[in-house]
Parts: sequence; C-alpha cells; structure tokens
Amino acid sequence: MTKIDPQEPPCMIEAVGTTERIRRAYDLWSAIYAKVAGPLEHGPRLRALELAGIQPLDIVLEVAVGTGAILLEVLKRVDKRKIVYGTDLSPKMLHKARQLAHDEGHANLGLYRADARQLPFRGEAFDVIYSSYFLDLLELKDMPPVLDGFKRVLRPGGRLVLVNLSKEYADKISWIERFYLWLPAAWVPYLLGSCRPVFMQELVEAQGFIEVKREFIRGLTHSEIVTARKPSNSWHR
Ligand SMILES: C[S@@+](CC[C@H](N)C(=O)[O-])C[C@H]1O[C@@H](n2cnc3c(N)ncnc32)[C@H](O)[C@@H]1O
Repeated sequence: MTKIDPQEPPCMIEAVGTTERIRRAYDLWSAIYAKVAGPLEHGPRLRALELAGIQPLDIVLEVAVGTGAILLEVLKRVDKRKIVYGTDLSPKMLHKARQLAHDEGHANLGLYRADARQLPFRGEAFDVIYSSYFLDLLELKDMPPVLDGFKRVLRPGGRLVLVNLSKEYADKISWIERFYLWLPAAWVPYLLGSCRPVFMQELVEAQGFIEVKREFIRGLTHSEIVTARKPSNSWHR
C-alpha cells in the first residue's frame, strides 16, 4: 500500500469524521447541497466530464453521486439502452439523485447505496469511472485501496476521471485547511462535508494507472482534475 507522509509535499492534512457522522451530515446536506455546492463546483465538474469524453455506448459508473447533477449530464450523453451506474453512502443524496434523473425523464439508471471502499460490482465492468469531491473527504489510508477498487472495476483501457478540492502550493497550508483544523472535529462533516485540499496524481500513478494528467482550476475553493487510464494489459476479476 502506498504510504503518504503528510509532512512531505504534496502536503495533505488528515480527514476528520467517522463514516456514520459523514453519512448523517450528507443526509442533512442533501436538502440544500445542489444550491450551495453547484455554484462552487459545477465548472470543474463539467470540465472533468468534457475530459472524460463519454461516448453513447460507454458503461459509466459515478462514485459518490451526491444529488445527481453530473449523473444527469452523463445520462444525457449515453444511449438510453445503456444503464448509468451510481453509488453513494447517503440514502438521502441517492433519493435526490434518483428524483432528478426521473424528473428529467431518464429511467436507465442503477443507483446503489454503497461505501466506495467496497464497491459492489464485478471486475472490469465499466468503461469510465467519474468521481467528484469525494476522494478529498477520505482518510489518507483509504485513498490507495479506493483507487485500487476503481481499477478493479474498470475494464482494461478504461478511463478514470477525478475532481477534488486541491490547492495551489503543495507545501503551504491554505485558508480552507486552517479553517478545517481550527473547527471542532465533530463539526467538520457538517460544515465542510469533511472535504479538504488533496493531491491525487501521484497516488493514481502509484496504483498503476497510466497517462495520468492533472489540471488545476482556480476558484474560491481551488480544484484539481486528475484523468488516467487503466493499462490495456491489466486484468482484474
Ligand atoms: C462533497 S459531496 C460530492 C457529491 C457529488 N459527487 C458532487 O460532485 O456534487 C460527497 C459525497 O460523497 C458521499 N460519500 C461520503 N463518504 C462516502 C463513502 N465512503 N462511499 C460513498 N460515498 C460517500 C456523500 O454522501 C456525498 O454525497
């Protein structure tokens, strides 16, 4: 397993929040998440989707779909006979995502309540995995196994597209990190959704993905987009 030393650049602070508290926080967030996160995050999410280059016949999995804004965009891009898959830990987030897709007339979706640390899919099932603002809430120790799980369920040659909170200077503490560290730990899931700036490029490379690229997007909360491919000669069952 890849080790990260938070003292060494790229510097990432540890995540705060138990799984149960994070689930509860996002159940609460689901009522207003689209309105709050949309203006901050939709630009990077759409840019990432563009980089994913989704084709009508692709089988796509979105991990941690939230209220379904990107799931809807994926549904618009794929053939109606193809199921688009999504997972999330929070039942209320999933409910919002399902409602949004149905309201827009899409029935070809498979939504599952699942912890991304144990994806309930067979190996090599997907052409594309997309996930936004999720890896940045994981504990450092969970990042490599989650990326390995993504690799397991991607078909050889499949594409991975990640969007995360990030920061401009790897070796400096940003304002959002200061706030994160200053807050009482129990409040972090409720006020920040447990998300903090991270750097995923090196970890994605360390899991054996190829063609790994990072795009940095400036904003009120900066973001990174990391794209990669599973090697064509790599098999997982
Ligand atoms: C910051 S929101 C991002 C939602 C969506 N991807 C977006 O870009 O709007 C984080 C999402 O991750 C989900 N989540 C948190 N921990 C999870 C886990 N261990 N497995 C799956 N989903 C998780 C939350 O319920 C929430 O919907």
